[in-house]
Amino acid sequence: MKILVTGGTGYIGSHTVVELQQEGFEVIIIDNLSNSQAEIADQIARITGIKPVLEIIDLTDKEKTSAFFKKHNDLSGIIHFAAYKAVGESVEQPLKYYTNNLCSLLNVLEGMKENGIENFVFSSSCTVYGQPDVLPVSENAPVKPAESPYGNTKQVSEEILTDTVNVSKLKAIALRYFNPIGAHESAEIGELPQGVPNNLVPYITQTAKGIRDYLRVWGNDYDTPDGTAIRDYIHVVDLAKAHVVAVKRMIEDKMKSNFEVFNLGTGTGYSVLDVIRAFEKTAGIKLNYRIMDRRPGDIVKVWADPAFSNKELGWKAEQGLEEMMASAWKWEQAYREKFKD
Ligand code: UD1
Repeated sequence: MKILVTGGTGYIGSHTVVELQQEGFEVIIIDNLSNSQAEIADQIARITGIKPVLEIIDLTDKEKTSAFFKKHNDLSGIIHFAAYKAVGESVEQPLKYYTNNLCSLLNVLEGMKENGIENFVFSSSCTVYGQPDVLPVSENAPVKPAESPYGNTKQVSEEILTDTVNVSKLKAIALRYFNPIGAHESAEIGELPQGVPNNLVPYITQTAKGIRDYLRVWGNDYDTPDGTAIRDYIHVVDLAKAHVVAVKRMIEDKMKSNFEVFNLGTGTGYSVLDVIRAFEKTAGIKLNYRIMDRRPGDIVKVWADPAFSNKELGWKAEQGLEEMMASAWKWEQAYREKFKD
């Protein structure tokens, strides 16, 4: 069975391609390489022995997207990762985010409709919950007004899917990710941040490697046990595996409604200082960090209630924080040799 993975050379996409191939799916990737590299297809092949087909297409190009779907009208499903994801940049350049994230989604959905392709997995985010009133946060928690254009593109995308499944044969699953970190155990693929990372874990590993002087911890006066903000960090390979489960659920006709939403988290919240300590322990390195003011727009604490995903998908995140940090550190040490800037 053939699965299209858009954004398949990106961080989560590449890990998902590996898991799909290892489960026997044939994978085609579409990526415009705006935040990744074509060599990732070779790296994937080093793990699985199969180099996925990579089509370099910008999905905001309606004609090229439509031509792709005409050529590949035998797809069993689509996993749509292709999107911009930097929260701060989305505030500075909202139109760039709305155009890219929404036009690409619309063009893919049109292509599916024209060619009778029905199964669609969407890459959503726990950002749709904002600061939840109740923790842990379940799928039934209200969607809060988005804090950024990036977050809004996820909310609007889910609404587009809701409206479309009502009037067509489309079946969709939105997976709301908590904080994906870590890398494949082979250290052949992982996150490739461009420039100075915004996210915590790449910043930690780059600091440990000596690329950054020190980590800035954004605030230690929150209402949490140690004062630093709390997130539900999930190993990217656990996250990738959930996509395979979701695709199979659609293909095997096991969905309970034509649009389903699942949280992908571990159910455990860790503070920034917890993450630093776990890194120090697994890497055997003392990390240089300084406490700074709060980062504007940060949520204080959020972690998932994964009960519904665990039960309905028969999926559970398996790897703990130390395994996540160990794989992130192994990748940090390996990747600069593989991908020279
Ligand atoms: C953010 C977005 C999320 C998006 C994700 C991907 C929000 C509320 N969430 O997650 O929707 O999917 O980015 O890019 O905007 N931290 C530091 N120092 C650093 C970096 C981070 O202390 O140098 C802290 C942050 O304050 C936060 C935690 O580490 O408490 C995690 O931050 P980060 O990795 O940036 O992810 P989120 O902000 O949770």
